[in-house]
Amino acid sequence: MSLHIPVMLPEVCRLLEGLENKRLIVDATLGLGGYSEGILHKWQKVAVLGIDQDPQAVEVARRRLSDFGDRFKAIHGNFRDLSCLLNESGMGKPDAVIFDLGVSSMQIETPERGFSFQENGPLDMRMNTTDEHQDIAAEIVNTYSMRELTTIFRKYGEEPYALQIARGIVRHRERSGPITGTSELVEVIRKTLPAPVQRKMGRNPSRKVFQALRIAVNDELDALDDALEQCTGLYGGRMAVIVVSYHSLEDRIVKNKFREWKSKGLGEVPFRKPLTPEQEELEGNWRSRSAKLRAFFFKEGSMEGKAK
Ligand SMILES: C[S@@+](CC[C@H](N)C(=O)[O-])C[C@H]1O[C@@H](n2cnc3c(N)ncnc32)[C@H](O)[C@@H]1O
Repeated sequence: MSLHIPVMLPEVCRLLEGLENKRLIVDATLGLGGYSEGILHKWQKVAVLGIDQDPQAVEVARRRLSDFGDRFKAIHGNFRDLSCLLNESGMGKPDAVIFDLGVSSMQIETPERGFSFQENGPLDMRMNTTDEHQDIAAEIVNTYSMRELTTIFRKYGEEPYALQIARGIVRHRERSGPITGTSELVEVIRKTLPAPVQRKMGRNPSRKVFQALRIAVNDELDALDDALEQCTGLYGGRMAVIVVSYHSLEDRIVKNKFREWKSKGLGEVPFRKPLTPEQEELEGNWRSRSAKLRAFFFKEGSMEGKAK
């Protein structure tokens, strides 16, 4: 397993620099703890509460960061329950909440999790492997109607060939039975799309379908919206919300939410256009190529009578 290289960590730290107190930072997408580690190293008095819905990530991060003692706490949970998780932690009000969205290298590089279109694995894609009520990708692929599949591929993958791919999947199901693994799904998509279309699509033609399924399985966009909504109720004094996103669907939610907060007079956006990684980072870390960082600084006492 390769260690996840944290994306845009220097930019995140520079933004935190501006906060006077820095007593508690919430790392809402802990992963293997790259951000948490960077922050705990940089500021000796800061405590970090790490949250991840992936129990394996929590376990690895807990082990990796155990030297920081009670300055670091990792909890298994979904950031859509941010307020509750924070209350339960008993750690008080945060000075910043950071989201580094999407999947980690560990998740992508573990074929049994089903996130990768490059290696064969089961069609699972759950980040929270303990949730047995959640539909896994196989259920969506093998039981949803052509119309439902088209909607998912369009809405969450912005896939222009959504209908053709959905039709190809349904035909394959009728002829050969359920699609059982990621490689079979990749193959069905390849067979469905004519070669010139695939050439036009550039990167792997399955990429957007996999993104769409992952977002649907984990209800990622609603979870982000819910979590951001709760941020307005969390802060006591000045608090930063920092989000690193990897595709336009996430970025749009963040941009609109920050715009709404600003229009309510809750605080300020320190830069209008999102930050993107420096050239050096782009060359050294492929995951950073589509990253966009946005931030919002709530001002002190800005909640009074304004939000909600
Ligand atoms: C890009 S990785 C974070 C990497 C981390 N910043 C690091 O440096 O190691 C995203 C992580 O967020 C987690 N995640 C995604 N959506 C989540 C949610 N709704 N609640 C909690 N964790 C979530 C994933 O399981 C994954 O481990």
